[in-house]
Amino acid sequence: MKNILVCGGAGFIGSNFVRHMLAKYPDYLITVYDKLTYAGNLDNLLDVSQNPRYSFVQGDICDAAKVDEVISQREIDTIVNFAAETHVDRSLMEPGSFIMTDVYGTYVLLEAAKKHGLARYHQVSTDEVYGQVVVGASCETDRLETRSPYSASKASGDLMTFAYHTSFDVPVTITRGANNIGPYQYPEKVVPVFVTNAIDNLPLPLYGDGLQVRDYQYVLDHCEGIDLVLHRGTLGEAYNLGTGQETRNVDMAHMILDLLGKPRSLIQYVKDRPGHDRRYALDCAKIRALGWQPRHDFAQALEKTVRWYVDNEWWWRKIKSGERWQEYYKKNYAGRELTGQAKAG
Ligand code: NAD
Ligand code: DAU
Repeated sequence: MKNILVCGGAGFIGSNFVRHMLAKYPDYLITVYDKLTYAGNLDNLLDVSQNPRYSFVQGDICDAAKVDEVISQREIDTIVNFAAETHVDRSLMEPGSFIMTDVYGTYVLLEAAKKHGLARYHQVSTDEVYGQVVVGASCETDRLETRSPYSASKASGDLMTFAYHTSFDVPVTITRGANNIGPYQYPEKVVPVFVTNAIDNLPLPLYGDGLQVRDYQYVLDHCEGIDLVLHRGTLGEAYNLGTGQETRNVDMAHMILDLLGKPRSLIQYVKDRPGHDRRYALDCAKIRALGWQPRHDFAQALEKTVRWYVDNEWWWRKIKSGERWQEYYKKNYAGRELTGQAKAG
């Protein structure tokens, strides 16, 4: 594999993946194909923009003609698809765009992979496809029991990816990652929203009782796992990627405030997310057997992440001062009555 189309490469994980691949494989060419939605940002790729092995094409994965043209003209042999609508709260407000990109867009890319006989199509998916996991941990063969429009659309993308392998022999792999944190995450996701609010002494809006459990992994660990599956994964298979370390949201909020030297009184309990998944947990034995293990535990990952946001105000202040961001923030948070400081914890 030498000529990779990274769809959604201007987003959070995609841009970290591009940086990782350019540094690790000196003979690989990388084309980022990205629509530049609100979440896509060329600032995320500023430091690789002069690399002669990197190039950027603005385009929609739902645009079959443009996808076709890019693959032909650039002799692409591999697609890694990060492109998606990714925020659960937004999927509750406008599910249509999730179905378009995460389902139809995935189909368009799979058709292109089939037509051009690509060496690999890799789909970047999520632990959310298993739905909430009250006890135990999800294996790759578990049922997909999604509960939000976001997770339902991602699960549909996974099923379409498997269908193209079974029906047309398209060489596919899938990774299902747990929550990522790290540099360049759009400040709508909980860790960057909490860190940047705390820096500005603004409230940290904690949903419900704050006792939901997530497995927060460092983004570059996730990228290494995707890289490993791309090179050593078995075709037609999915691989879970997570640390196995469980963290409650309230504890994550406390750790952020402690790292920044801010008071815990900044935490504000607000009305819960409808259908909020209580807990995700992944069984990662399969990827560990391939030789992957995360380099960071949660405390290390969070510390690095907080430091990055402290050192890179230029990046997130530009976003948070924009009208588009402020409109979203109002829409998502204004309607949530504050329930005051809860007793959780
Ligand atoms: P993100 O929202 O930061 O970036 C998504 C990128 O896709 C943006 O650059 C956006 O412009 C682009 N995009 C959106 N619609 C497009 C379209 N129609 N055509 C072309 N480009 C389009 O997302 P992220 O957090 O980096 O997530 C990347 C992938 O990883 C997604 O598929 C997501 O489901 C998956 N994932 C995310 C996490 C996480 O914690 N963030 C965890 C596991 C899996
Ligand atoms: O698990 C992987 C998934 O992680 C990815 O597939 C998604 O793309 C990504 O958005 C993320 O989904 P979550 O819903 O878990 O992430 P989010 O950052 O939105 O929320 C994490 C937890 O924090 C969740 O329990 C809800 C809570 N939360 C979130 C926000 C935005 C709050 O308490 N307050 C908030 O303001």
